[in-house]
Amino acid sequence: MNQLDKGDSSQVGAIRVWVNGEMVDPAAPSVAALDHGVTVGDGVFETCKIVDGIPFALERHARRLDRSMAGLGLPPADHHVIDAGITAVLAGEPIAFGRLRYSVTGGAGPLGSDRDDSPLTYIVTAGPQPPNPGSGTVVVVPWTRNERGATAGLKTTSYAENVVALAFAKKRGGVEALFANTVGNLCECTGSNVFVVVGGEVLTPDLASGPLAGITRELLIDWCRHEGLTVREESLPMSVLQEAAEVFITSSTKDVLPVHAIGDRLIAAPGPVTARAAEIFARRSHDPLSVAIAGPGKPRTS
Ligand SMILES: Cc1ncc(COP(=O)(O)O)c(C=O)c1O
Repeated sequence: MNQLDKGDSSQVGAIRVWVNGEMVDPAAPSVAALDHGVTVGDGVFETCKIVDGIPFALERHARRLDRSMAGLGLPPADHHVIDAGITAVLAGEPIAFGRLRYSVTGGAGPLGSDRDDSPLTYIVTAGPQPPNPGSGTVVVVPWTRNERGATAGLKTTSYAENVVALAFAKKRGGVEALFANTVGNLCECTGSNVFVVVGGEVLTPDLASGPLAGITRELLIDWCRHEGLTVREESLPMSVLQEAAEVFITSSTKDVLPVHAIGDRLIAAPGPVTARAAEIFARRSHDPLSVAIAGPGKPRTS
């Protein structure tokens, strides 16, 4: 069993938890039973990598949270509240390698899918994360991602589909589960985006194919293009997995993870293009100007 297969449950005691303005005991109840995040998964979340006590790409995650809140029809989150929670959970002993996760839910609500106008619930957590393996197997699952669904592309707390898919993949030796979308094109994994290398070019499903707009994905595409790699976002048939010379997946805690097998199909990993992409990501990640969002009065990425 590799590090990723162990899950996080053994580390619950090491997770720092802050809810609605207070640090709380991670094992004690701190969110109302009638919270709409609990009853129907009406909420959104973000996960950022922590390295040496410092969370990565916070501004980009905040921007995506805003998009997810708007997509669910929830009122805008108060980022001062989230920032207070982040400061609280990162205080004290720096977390060498870990995960900062914050969620904002619709707050107390009726038992059904209807909403009322309760104040939002804010939950911020931080804790250590096991190191990643050097590479992993990905398993294609028999269920689809709905690229036309109401929550397509939103990072909602309704992740039960991902729980089922990841359990399926892990039972078959995978570190991740890979979904096609409803028209049979490549989409994404339960918590990672997917890239394939064909003819020396890096290809990844476009956002219309239904994946989450991963922060690692967006940075990697930008940085690889700046360094001369061809990266194309397009709709890709699942058969591309048979012809791809290299496959890798990306996420906030995995960075660039080479894939050494898709189900039974073995792939050399890391291949040269994957190794280059991983090197570019690792190097540029250390440059705050590269990570910052470019815009008026803001630093540019190159
Ligand atoms: C469904 C899904 N796709 C892709 C990703 C990767 O996104 P990021 O690079 O922002 O972590 C995640 C992140 O957890 C995710 O939940």
